[in-house]
Amino acid sequence: MNLNIDQARVARELEELAAISQVPPPAVTRILFTDADLRGRAYVKGLCREAGLEIREDPVGNIFARWQGADRSLPAVCTGSHIDAIPNAGKFDGTVGVLGGLEALRALARAGFRPPRSIELIIFTAEEPTRFGIGCLGSRLMGGALTSSADEDLKDNDGRSLQQIRVEAGYTGSLETVRLPCNYCRAFVELHIEQGPILERDQIDVGIVTAIAPPAGLRLWIEGEGGHAGAVLMPQRRDAFLGAAEIALSLEKAARESGAIDTVATTGVCEVFPGAINSIPSRVRMEVDVRDIGPGRRDEVLRKLHVAIVEVSSRRGLTVRKEIINQDSPAQSGPLALAALEKACLVQGATFARMISRAYHDALFISLLAPSAMLFIPCRSGISHHPDEYASDEHISAGIAVLAETLADLAVAADYGTPSDLPPAIRTQTVR
Ligand code: HGY
Ligand code: MN
Ligand code: MN
Repeated sequence: MNLNIDQARVARELEELAAISQVPPPAVTRILFTDADLRGRAYVKGLCREAGLEIREDPVGNIFARWQGADRSLPAVCTGSHIDAIPNAGKFDGTVGVLGGLEALRALARAGFRPPRSIELIIFTAEEPTRFGIGCLGSRLMGGALTSSADEDLKDNDGRSLQQIRVEAGYTGSLETVRLPCNYCRAFVELHIEQGPILERDQIDVGIVTAIAPPAGLRLWIEGEGGHAGAVLMPQRRDAFLGAAEIALSLEKAARESGAIDTVATTGVCEVFPGAINSIPSRVRMEVDVRDIGPGRRDEVLRKLHVAIVEVSSRRGLTVRKEIINQDSPAQSGPLALAALEKACLVQGATFARMISRAYHDALFISLLAPSAMLFIPCRSGISHHPDEYASDEHISAGIAVLAETLADLAVAADYGTPSDLPPAIRTQTVR
C-alpha cells in the first residue's frame, strides 16, 4: 500500500509527550498514576479522539482506542505499547509504539483504507515495574497472568495498595473485568525501539521478534543489627549492607558463569536503612532482575542465588526474607503475526531480520491471548532507559509504514500460511 507517514507530526508529538514528565528534559520520568502519567494519558487520548478513534479505559487504566471496522463482531487487530517511563529514562521507549501506532492508523485512513474488522490501539498500564515492582501490570491482568488479588497484594514504597492508587486516579471497578477473552484480538503487533545495538550495527531497518526473554524479579529484605559507626568494633558487627553486597556479587558471578552470554542479572534497587553515614546498616531492601532467553538457565541462577543467601546470612548472622515478584515464561511469536510482518517488510521495501527481544514487553502477556509479534527499529548505540535514548525520524517512519501495512493485512486477509511461504530470497537470518 502506498502510505504517506507524517514524519514531522510524529516527531512533534513524541517531543510534546516527552515534555510531560516529572523531571526536566532530556530525561523523561512518568511513573504510574503520578500527575505526569495522568497528563500524558490525557494528551494521548486527545490525539486518539482527534483521529476519530473510540476510546474506553478499563479499571486498571489500560486505554483502548478503536477504529471501528465494517464488521464490529469480528475480533480486532490490535497494536500498542506503553507511555510510562522509569526514572531518568528516554523519550522513545514505549511511546514509539503508541504514537507510531496512532500514526499508522491515521496513515491508513489517509490512504483510503477502510478496515473490514476493527483495528485497536492499546496503551497499556504500567509496562514499567517502577511503582509496584512488577512490570506489564496492565497486560498481565488482561492476559490472566496476574489475578485481581493484585489490588491488595501490590503495595508501592509508601505502603499504598494498587487499589488505593488507581481509585484515586479515577480508575474504579473490579480488576476481574480487566481480563480479556481469548478471541478479543485476532492478532497483536507491537512497534518498539530495539533497546539493543544489533539493528544499527547490521544496518537493518526492522527486527522481527520471534521470542521474548522471560524476566524474573525478586525482592530481598536483609536484617542485621545496626549501631554506632564508631563504637561497634568490626568483629561484633552484623552489617546488613555488606551481606547485600556479597549476595549481589554472587548473583553477578552466577550470571557470568551460566555458560551462555544470554544470561543477565541486575541488582537495580538497594535501599539501606537507616541510611546515615555514621550508622551501621541494620536493614536493606534489594530488588534483583534475572533474565535469559532460556528459562532453565535463568532458574539455575535463581537457585545459585538462594544458595548464596543461605551461606552469607548464616556466616554473617543475618536474616533474609525473599519474595518472588515474578518468574515468567517465555513467549514465542505467533506465525500469523510473523507472516504478516515479513510480508509487510517486503511490500514496504524494508530490510529485516528475525531476532529475540532481551527486554520484556506487553506482547509477552498479550501472546497469552492472541498470536503476537513485535517489530523493532534501530536505536542509537542500543542505548535505552537513559536520556540519551534516540531513534531517527527515518527509522521511526519506516517502522510505522511496516506496522500500518501489517495491521491492514491482518485486518483483511482471511488466513495465512506460515512465514516459510514467503520467497526464500527474503528469508532472513536471525541476528544475535
Ligand atoms: O525491563 C524491560 O525489559 C522493559 O523495558 N520494561
Ligand atoms: Mn522500558
Ligand atoms: Mn518498553
